[in-house]
Amino acid sequence: MVAFTTKYKPKRLADVVYPDTQTEFDIMSYENAGRFNNIILYGTYGTGKTTIARLMPKAVVDDVDEDNEVDFINGSKVRGIQCIDDIEDFLQLTSWNKKGFKFVIIDEAEQLTKQAQFALKGVMDRFIDDAMFIFTTNHINDLYAGIQSRSEIYLLDPPPVERLVPLVKHVLKCEKLKMSDPQINQFTAKYGTSVRNLLMKLETLTINAKRKASQPPSTPSLSCNTTPNQPTPTSAAITSNPVSCNTTLNQPTPSSAATTSNPVSCNTTLNQPTPSSAAITSNPVSCNTTLNQQTPTSSKQAA
Ligand SMILES: Nc1ncnc2c1ncn2[C@@H]1O[C@H](COP(=O)(O)OP(=O)(O)OP(=O)(O)O)[C@@H](O)[C@H]1O
Ligand SMILES: [Mg+2]
Repeated sequence: MVAFTTKYKPKRLADVVYPDTQTEFDIMSYENAGRFNNIILYGTYGTGKTTIARLMPKAVVDDVDEDNEVDFINGSKVRGIQCIDDIEDFLQLTSWNKKGFKFVIIDEAEQLTKQAQFALKGVMDRFIDDAMFIFTTNHINDLYAGIQSRSEIYLLDPPPVERLVPLVKHVLKCEKLKMSDPQINQFTAKYGTSVRNLLMKLETLTINAKRKASQPPSTPSLSCNTTPNQPTPTSAAITSNPVSCNTTLNQPTPSSAATTSNPVSCNTTLNQPTPSSAAITSNPVSCNTTLNQQTPTSSKQAA
């Protein structure tokens, strides 16, 4: 099974869930606009900084050769002055995209040594007309002020619930799970402080729902609230609920069975007729669709 952080990873800047309209508008403004100011993306964990950084070169120049014209550096692995020399060597190579741009992504940039950060300032100036530097960091205050002053700075806070709900609904739909709107809101509010964590929780929810649906009839479960008078194996699966959400099959079984066992906040209904089909119809390919986020146009209108 593909991790949901990969399966539902944004494929273009428009798929990212932004913290607010202004940030969305500002970041989207790089797309095909011929602008390539250096940028710093900072903020808490799992809000899309590295994702945006990786998507940016293609957004700025659609024919960029990502293997040869983008230099991705993990600042926590390559920290010293040597990496600045390597960046300079890279920037001196010819680039063949229609703008002649090159891109240097420095992930976890505050991890570069002070000396390296200082040296980078000169390189940024030298290649100001043909290179875009993209930095990500969790700790903006540890990033040298000289780099900050040469970059546009964007704070990637966790998006508010109302911006995350479409992503949650998209995942639930792709995974053929059902949750009521209040439950979706509650779930999103609880886990949405990091989009990464939200997707991981949705993955857990999905695995548990599908496992429940495909459980063989005779398999007893220790945590199962099996009701003695339940006639079918399916209903046994319904009441067995060792995980964090109530997983039910969409069958004409007693709804009370679904509602009685509910240790936490959300009822997830697997929208499948039978346990076996639940496993079969999970379709990771067709679920790899892009999320219909607010478009740049709508952002512009809103802004
Ligand atoms: N704003 C977002 N919109 C859509 N998906 C997101 C967003 N943020 C994170 N994700 C999902 O979470 C995964 C991890 O995100 P990413 O690595 O970009 O976060 P990060 O901000 O760089 O985190 P860290 O600070 O820990 O490095 C992505 O692959 C994507 O699936
Ligand atoms: Mg990151």
